[in-house]
Amino acid sequence: MAGKFVVVANWKMHPATLREARRLFEATKKIAEKAPRASIIVAPSSIHLAPLAAGYKGKRVEFAAQNAHEGEVGAFTGDISVAQAKDAKARYLLVGHAERREAGETNDETRLTVASALSYGLTPILCVGEHARSASGEHFTFVRDQLKAGFQSVEPSAVAKTLVAYEPVWAIGSEEAMSPRSMHEMAIFIRKTIVELHGAKGHAIKILYGGAVNEENAPSMLLYGDVAGLLVGRASISPKEFALLIESIQTH
Ligand code: PGA
Repeated sequence: MAGKFVVVANWKMHPATLREARRLFEATKKIAEKAPRASIIVAPSSIHLAPLAAGYKGKRVEFAAQNAHEGEVGAFTGDISVAQAKDAKARYLLVGHAERREAGETNDETRLTVASALSYGLTPILCVGEHARSASGEHFTFVRDQLKAGFQSVEPSAVAKTLVAYEPVWAIGSEEAMSPRSMHEMAIFIRKTIVELHGAKGHAIKILYGGAVNEENAPSMLLYGDVAGLLVGRASISPKEFALLIESIQTH
């Protein structure tokens, strides 16, 4: 494996207190300091994002918001805006995570949020992935529709500033990740779709894999899956597991 891998630690709605979030961040920071081959991006809950980012002066870790409304301000009770995420020092923004889509987020909303994130100078991480696989390959059509919508308002020159996280919904929270071979096939398909939309610049798109990533499957996914990094849920909220995972990709 050559170069640096992106590892996004998606903490989801963990932990329950700011005190614990600070502890988890301290541990994550130490792991990052010992991992020159990984670019670590922490995505805490929006209420923990600002205090954690404000207290961090280092350079080894960057921050992402897990979700944001595309507007700047407005009457949207319970939302945070892209502008607020940026002000809280997020450099990345997860868009359309499967759990947000489950809660009602549409393809068209992802289009608006991706465009808004880019306009504020944040790097959107557009999450796509099918619920199930079928022998007839409908999952490819499903993913293509998600990509087409999410990238519709992206200028070709901004394609390289956008990441795609492919997370098959059936692998999220499950015991087993997808095989690197299937990921490789999907990565080719994702690139082809972006090239169809935006021309040759699409070849450079960075793709992450997410869904049941752990220290056992991470090295082979990075070696054979044709991905630039990983989006990690459960294994990122346990310092022990996260340390093992990051270690596993330093040595392979
Ligand atoms: P998981 O979650 O690693 O716990 O499967 C991944 C995600 O939803 O981003």
